[in-house]
Amino acid sequence: MIRSGDMELQNLPKGDDSVKDLLQTRDDFPALQQSLQGKPLVYLDNAATTQTPRSVIEAIKNFYECHKANVHRGVHQLSIRATKQYEQARSKVQRLLGAKDAHEIVFVRGATEGINLVANSYGLQHLQAGDEVLITEMEHHSNIVPWQMVCEKRGAKLKVAPMNEKGELLVEEYARLLNPKTRMVALAHISNALGTINPVAELTAMAHKQGAVVLIDGAQAVPHMAVDVLDLDCDFYVFSSHKAFGPTGIGALYGKGALLETMQPYQGGGDMISSVTFDKTTYNRLPYKFEAGTPNVAGAIGLGAAIDYLGAIGYDAIAAHEQRLLEYGTRALAAIDGLRIIGTAAAKASVISFVLEGVHPHDIGTIVDQEAIAIRAGHHCAQPTMQHFGVPATARASFAFYNSFEDIDRLVATIHKVQEVFA
Ligand code: ALA
Repeated sequence: MIRSGDMELQNLPKGDDSVKDLLQTRDDFPALQQSLQGKPLVYLDNAATTQTPRSVIEAIKNFYECHKANVHRGVHQLSIRATKQYEQARSKVQRLLGAKDAHEIVFVRGATEGINLVANSYGLQHLQAGDEVLITEMEHHSNIVPWQMVCEKRGAKLKVAPMNEKGELLVEEYARLLNPKTRMVALAHISNALGTINPVAELTAMAHKQGAVVLIDGAQAVPHMAVDVLDLDCDFYVFSSHKAFGPTGIGALYGKGALLETMQPYQGGGDMISSVTFDKTTYNRLPYKFEAGTPNVAGAIGLGAAIDYLGAIGYDAIAAHEQRLLEYGTRALAAIDGLRIIGTAAAKASVISFVLEGVHPHDIGTIVDQEAIAIRAGHHCAQPTMQHFGVPATARASFAFYNSFEDIDRLVATIHKVQEVFA
């Protein structure tokens, strides 16, 4: 699949049989088969959302065609079947994350809702005036704003651990900021804007020594790497299905059972009650206490199918292929005059943010789109990260296992065209 004419690039490791196998996975993704204005789509916006394999689409279709019913309510056969599939999906998430028990998995709309749930439940219950919440400078807005809101309500302080010019967390600064007033630590496993992989197990252990509870935002990790919440020993872990080849509008929150037990519900109504009178409501057991209203049953089933799909490929093959794409893409893009890569951490996932001298990232995005190449341009919902690097926005190419070296060659060739337009 390597078509680059650049000799230096041709000397890069380009793959073996496992790479070929992964490229065949493209056939499983209907959206990747299309051409735009006669040009085959190159989809490089996987950090924003991934495409969906046919098996996931079929699982959702099958639910709507054959089993659609509400869950945990009906005595009829459709409801029993829907409930079974919904709970099987929960068990698949449990196994994906390595959680001890399925009741530690709460279905939410996505990582953002998971973080808001923890901030508004655990955070509101436990934070007091003078307490501190520690985050990092590379967080997505979803892991900043909910903590700002809860800190404001409780008179707590938000502290921010800085990063260096490569986009790596300064672990010694993080250690310095941790203290007995730190009640909560919230960290990205992988930065969406930079691709930096944080050493979250080590950071969690350091936070626990100070008595803080740790939430990890795994939105960018689950699509790329095996996650084991017991190994990480984190207290909470969140991710979104749509970034991991599943449907939109569904994701999961993992919480240690003992902590979830002590937490107040986030929303009221529907399945989260045990009994209701006008005087008092008692709450359902875990995880239903946190799943108010009719849940996204089709979404959960689709997420379960995406987990099956990921399991069939295997994270070892995914990580090996994506690291080769990252290495190849980094070398190819860095070789372009006037292009600066933003985020050069030693430990990186397959995300390349960049700026081009004299061209606004939105113009890069628009021009490459005319060549049917989808990248993201903007602040990536991480404005403080952009501020750190002194840029308003970046262009970002983010790879999944179905991307090829040829996709990168097309991007590189088109960036040369962008430079010609702005020359
Ligand atoms: N958080 C998503 C991204 O990084 C939307 O693009």
